[in-house]
Amino acid sequence: MDKLALNLRKPSSNCYANLTRFALAANKPLGRNAVRLLQIEPHHKVLEVGFGPGHGLGYALNQSLRNGPGQIVGVDFSSFVCDRARKQFAAEISTGKVKIMADNVTSMSLPDSEFDKVFHTNSHLYWPDLPSACKELNRVMKPGAKMVTVMNLVRIEKISRRMGALKYAPNLFPEGYMSSLAASGFENIQTIEIKRRFMPSLHAVICSKT
Ligand SMILES: C[S@@+](CC[C@H](N)C(=O)[O-])C[C@H]1O[C@@H](n2cnc3c(N)ncnc32)[C@H](O)[C@@H]1O
Repeated sequence: MDKLALNLRKPSSNCYANLTRFALAANKPLGRNAVRLLQIEPHHKVLEVGFGPGHGLGYALNQSLRNGPGQIVGVDFSSFVCDRARKQFAAEISTGKVKIMADNVTSMSLPDSEFDKVFHTNSHLYWPDLPSACKELNRVMKPGAKMVTVMNLVRIEKISRRMGALKYAPNLFPEGYMSSLAASGFENIQTIEIKRRFMPSLHAVICSKT
């Protein structure tokens, strides 16, 4: 369990890769909904932080980026998942449509005011310094750009209570994240509930750069 918890925070081992992938497959609706809420247009420059197995990168590509000059950049501090994503998206990387970077969210080697849309799912739960991370995300976004995260709060609560798989995640509740956003120059910060038939609701935090 400890190795699984460590790998959920920073996937790093082949041995646990399949187990982690299996656990993260349940997160697919988070990435799908984050991309839907962002309303990505074909010319947009999009950033996903903490892409893990890469489902969100795929959704963003297929929503509309394939049909225009836009690009998706994936940043993750695990070189293990970056290597895997470079294989998975080799064709799109060769045309410049996808870029993968091994970086920490608190210090990304990206220019100022670069992105129209940003999303992350189940990654901020692990960021040790939320205010620095939010400031850095704000720096790389264009004025007026939008950022979304989607969470399954019921699942987070269940997993953390029953199994300890989230013991390396200090930010399980959205309040700390939302106050860091407010302190970092984000505005229009709102939470919305995404209702689903026969399944617990998801919650999205949406904000934009001033
Ligand atoms: C639990 S996984 C979530 C993966 C995927 N977004 C999903 O919803 O299935 C957390 C991911 O965030 C990445 N991550 C955690 N802390 C990070 C940080 N400080 N900077 C960049 N990436 C980070 C991890 O390497 C991992 O791939």
